[in-house]
Amino acid sequence: MRRPEEYRSHQWYGTDGLRSFSHRARTRQLGYLPEEHLGKPVIAILNTWSDINPCHSHLRDRAQAVKRGVWQAGGFPLEFPVATLSETFQKPTPMLYRNMLAMETEELLRSYPVDGAVLLGGCDKSTPALLMGAASADLPAVFVPAGPMLPGHWRGEILGSGTDMWKYWDDKRAGLIGDCELAELESGLARSPGHCMTMGTASTLTAAAEALGVTVPGASSIPAVDSGHDRMAAASGLRIVDLVRRDVRLSHLLTAEAFEDAVTTVLGLGGSTNAVIHLIAMAGRAGVRLTLEDFDRIARTVPVLANVRPGGGPYLMEDFHFAGGLPGFLSRITDLLHLDRPTVNGRFGDQIEHAAVHNDDVIRTRDNPVAKEGGVAVLRGNLCPDGAVIKHIAAEPHLLKHTGPAVVFDDYRTMQRSINDPALGITADHVLVLRNAGPKGGPGMPEYGMLPIPDHLLKQGVRDMVRISDARMSGTSYGTCVLHVAPESYVGGPLALVRTGDPITLDVAARTLRLDVPEAELARRRAAWTPPPERYERGYGALYAEQITQADTGCDFAFLARPGKVPDPYAG
Ligand code: FES
Ligand code: MG
Repeated sequence: MRRPEEYRSHQWYGTDGLRSFSHRARTRQLGYLPEEHLGKPVIAILNTWSDINPCHSHLRDRAQAVKRGVWQAGGFPLEFPVATLSETFQKPTPMLYRNMLAMETEELLRSYPVDGAVLLGGCDKSTPALLMGAASADLPAVFVPAGPMLPGHWRGEILGSGTDMWKYWDDKRAGLIGDCELAELESGLARSPGHCMTMGTASTLTAAAEALGVTVPGASSIPAVDSGHDRMAAASGLRIVDLVRRDVRLSHLLTAEAFEDAVTTVLGLGGSTNAVIHLIAMAGRAGVRLTLEDFDRIARTVPVLANVRPGGGPYLMEDFHFAGGLPGFLSRITDLLHLDRPTVNGRFGDQIEHAAVHNDDVIRTRDNPVAKEGGVAVLRGNLCPDGAVIKHIAAEPHLLKHTGPAVVFDDYRTMQRSINDPALGITADHVLVLRNAGPKGGPGMPEYGMLPIPDHLLKQGVRDMVRISDARMSGTSYGTCVLHVAPESYVGGPLALVRTGDPITLDVAARTLRLDVPEAELARRRAAWTPPPERYERGYGALYAEQITQADTGCDFAFLARPGKVPDPYAG
């Protein structure tokens, strides 16, 4: 146990000088008595709540529950509003701002009198952003996942928030439903606060956070509006105070073994491809080298056991929760995990030991998996020298080995305008290629990777085609979509050289993606290629363009990803 004089905040409040006097005076101004805060661990509650973010609209209340826990444990809670990254509303994509929230998190924790942090988030990028920043600040921290929203309902059907949005939009385009049905769907798809309730990016990343050992046990699948979510928030407040007293920092927890377990978890859940980028970036902040090859290697050892949309079966996160949640799932793969590593709760194995699965169809047994191997494969080849990924369990099996002529779209808007043009003569055998949608070209790698099937093919019943891009794909999307092609076309990657009609071969079993054009011809095209003009001449976008790294290394900013010294704010 540390003495109060050893807390970081002591420098602000507890010393003899003028500065401490001033900080104490200003804390009186905030309405606190000296005995309410002096000598206590100061806990920052970083809250991504906002009126615009439906996935986090309950987090104002949850921050109160965290404070309750912090007070009861003898800490001093202070809430900090931080940037909200709403997957739904923020354009061109919140991925453009993940590193900004990471930077804000790191710098707030560093520059204020904070001894430990509770991080509230869950909508897609907010989880990696908060954890990246907190890892760089390296204080004790607990993550409070926002929790999945209630299942969607429409005319007796259970709906997944993202997955069924795409599906019914396709039905509308195919003329199968009209405006009346669509209006009903608008009210039924997303029924409560909380993040997407499929195994999309949000559920995948919060599960990864739990597997990393930075949440209280079982936290990640608790429905956002369940009373258990309040209790979990309070428990997180209790926990962080103890971690500060014992000085258990994120660097003690975020080890190579922890990231291996997070990758194993994500793959065994059939989780989102976005987790590949985010986990690589998070590992980078913790000084752990995690590569695409690690995902492919681990994928071959982990069966998919979560029978949850969109990767597997019909179920949603609430079903997963009541089937045992993440602890139940982990209890089925203990032989693949590092049970002796530390977490915010103690030994990782101890938090799984008494877990059980209550529904073998939702969380499958090892001898009856949803898929024999993890859901993500890493591809290599002359079209993606630095790799690409595909969520093959969300693809139609007959397309996993496919050769077809490319139809190339130079950017998303052009694709939207022309994909239904009969003059293009697109057939189900064609390979749809979208470029300039990568980290720099998108910018921010928007989730354009599930390119739409042309209307005339939809009407013929075609629901999947091979699609290739340097974009990402929503965790709730599906289809034979090759994503994260690196290097991206905008910086001159081979995707920039493809022409309509070029044959492309995808072979997932062989892990290859090939552009079947002679090297001499590709060299000619490369010599003739000119880089597109910079998109941003000033502002955050210009900084982003200058610093963003490619998908295979996690799309962090180069200056944030690199190791190095940062002075203590009180040293200067
Ligand atoms: Fe927030 Fe899906 S929109 S998690
Ligand atoms: Mg998403």
